[in-house]
Amino acid sequence: MTTSSAPGKAILFGEHAVVYGRPAIAVPVSELRARATVTASAPGSGCTILAADLNHRLALDTAPADDPLAHIVRLTLAQLGIGPDPDWSITLRSEIPISSGLGSGAAVSTAIARALAEHAGHELSPEAVSALVYETERLHHGTPSGIDNAVVAHEQPVYFVRGEPLRPLMVGADIWLLIADTGIASPTKVAVAEVRRGWQADPTRYERLFDAIGGIVEAARQAIQKGRVDELSGLMDENQRCLAAIGVSSPLLDELCAAAREAGAGGAKLSGAGRGGNLIALVTPTTATAVSGALLAAGAKSCILSRVARRPVTEAVSTDCSRP
Ligand code: MEV
Repeated sequence: MTTSSAPGKAILFGEHAVVYGRPAIAVPVSELRARATVTASAPGSGCTILAADLNHRLALDTAPADDPLAHIVRLTLAQLGIGPDPDWSITLRSEIPISSGLGSGAAVSTAIARALAEHAGHELSPEAVSALVYETERLHHGTPSGIDNAVVAHEQPVYFVRGEPLRPLMVGADIWLLIADTGIASPTKVAVAEVRRGWQADPTRYERLFDAIGGIVEAARQAIQKGRVDELSGLMDENQRCLAAIGVSSPLLDELCAAAREAGAGGAKLSGAGRGGNLIALVTPTTATAVSGALLAAGAKSCILSRVARRPVTEAVSTDCSRP
């Protein structure tokens, strides 16, 4: 029996604009994880996948080609050179809410790829896992930038530009975030398609907003590297205003961001695709309890505290896997 896991993720700055070539910054949320367990099953029983939380079971040989779980299993088996239908049973569990901007799809796929490789006695590098997961992300939301699979498979903070090598991000001082769930499921595919329609209707306006977001990301990158966490407050609020202008915020997200700021958060913004899902609020260990209480009182369904730990050393650039 082999079990592997993968974290959720939060986009700190740059979502949506990253699909249009601007940079973005994302961090793993190691407190929330997806797990995949592979066990050998009876000879001739074939490969089955059980999504235990959803009570959903499928047999690999009859699963539709566009089923994301079957897709990552087939891709990984092919990559490992294993026959198409081994007698293996794969069980999935995840603490990451679905369609909430926290990378649940990428985390489940990453956990599956790792567990299959380990069960087969092979090693897959984070780059190889990321590339496999990217292919499955395309099923989830059509034109992914590649940031979700990159940050989840590498499990480290990243500065990401579509089509460029991945840059692990140096973090000069701990960053404390509250991650609060609106409880409203919002599939990335739908939000990304809506932004595309807006961009097609008014490319000049959208390109201007994407440029503004790109500028915010660059400023945030400097602040994060230098450990100037306070500077992130204004940048988060500015990023949230841009996201609202491109149409991916919602009344509840706006209310929750305002409640967090009033209770002492440095800044707050939606994280991920928006229109629901999660928001992030910048806190300190001292302000976290008050801000969390205010978020829950204002209607957040849950709130978790996550630490982006200081990482003083910059690492080598990794191979990009988002190139189409
Ligand atoms: C989703 O986590 C982030 C988006 O920017 C989409 C993407 O980058 O593929 C909304």
